[in-house]
Amino acid sequence: MAIVSSKAGHGEFLPSMAQRNTRLVDPAPSKDELCLPRDDGLRPKLLADYIGQNDLKQVLGIAVKAAIGRGDCLDHVLFYGPPGLGKTTMALVLAEEMGVKCRITSAPALERPRDIVGLLLNLQPRELLFIDEIHRLTRVAEELLYPAMEDRRLDITVGRGSTARIRVLDLPPFTLIGATTRAGALSSPLRDRFGLVQRLEFYGLDDLQAIVARAAGLLGLTLNEEACLEIARRCRGTPRIANRLLRRVRDVATVCSKSNCIDASLVDEALTLHRVDEKGLDASDRRLLELLVKSHGGGPAGLETLAAALGEDAATLEAVVEPFLLQIGFLQRTPRGRVVTQAGRTHLGATHL
Ligand SMILES: Nc1ncnc2c1ncn2[C@@H]1O[C@H](COP(=O)(O)OP(=O)(O)OP(=O)(O)O)[C@@H](O)[C@H]1O
Ligand SMILES: [Mg+2]
Repeated sequence: MAIVSSKAGHGEFLPSMAQRNTRLVDPAPSKDELCLPRDDGLRPKLLADYIGQNDLKQVLGIAVKAAIGRGDCLDHVLFYGPPGLGKTTMALVLAEEMGVKCRITSAPALERPRDIVGLLLNLQPRELLFIDEIHRLTRVAEELLYPAMEDRRLDITVGRGSTARIRVLDLPPFTLIGATTRAGALSSPLRDRFGLVQRLEFYGLDDLQAIVARAAGLLGLTLNEEACLEIARRCRGTPRIANRLLRRVRDVATVCSKSNCIDASLVDEALTLHRVDEKGLDASDRRLLELLVKSHGGGPAGLETLAAALGEDAATLEAVVEPFLLQIGFLQRTPRGRVVTQAGRTHLGATHL
């Protein structure tokens, strides 16, 4: 590999960086990303800066204008779809467009009833309350939310036993924005209380290319068109991964490149170093496909068998490694186990990392 072999000094530390970062293409936020301030500097702030998801932007743009026109708050919105596609970003964009604050929390942080009561009582008129992973709300929290969403009312039980009574507290008009990667896990009474239920889709190449170009500009990098396209091709249709790959390309460019402009061959070298191939598959993806082809004649093979042979946890394999392979048609789930498709075999045969 050109970078590693030609620059002995730097090359020695670069592969070990790559080995440590085993799931560069995992769409879930990494530990580092979770520790970043809420605004990683790359999130678009307004609808006009939010690239792609055109149907979603059209629907929300109309809802925002109508709400502002009426002097009312936005109807409750539920976003669902795979990680890293821009659900949290869109919630922040909506707050910005409405000219109000967005209070951010996540369902696991609302375990005790008083957590959600406190949040609701502190809302200012028309503010947004964003609850991430909303499918993980407890039953009690959900039941507090029903009248809050429908009638702007909180029903609180005060006292115990025979002296218990319900106190009703009025809430200001507010918008609940829920986000989930698992819409099916949401209870239907909760889902039905959202006026807008919107799915986020994987991004196409043109939009991803534009997202990379925008992020490069914000990071002060110069990438030519082909370089942006190369990252777009390898990021699994997911802006979060595109931004992560861009940062890794920046590292390699800083250490190894003399030119100011990053081109496609530098992107290819950097991502090959991190073992992300031209379809966005990494070493874990390829190990799974190779195991199926070499040890099971292409399958079918059971998830547990594969996980044991790879030394991975079956749940991780199912949640992190498999979804993208299924989505691009390299892997199939059958009642008898996992099977590699012809497209998967062809890809394996053509890629050597
Ligand atoms: N449409 C977009 N245009 C430009 N950048 C985007 C867009 N959508 C997302 N991003 C970038 O991708 C990153 C991840 O987006 P975000 O955190 O909103 O995803 P998410 O859907 O909330 O993921 P999760 O399900 O893991 O919470 C953001 O930091 C942002 O920089
Ligand atoms: Mg999010």
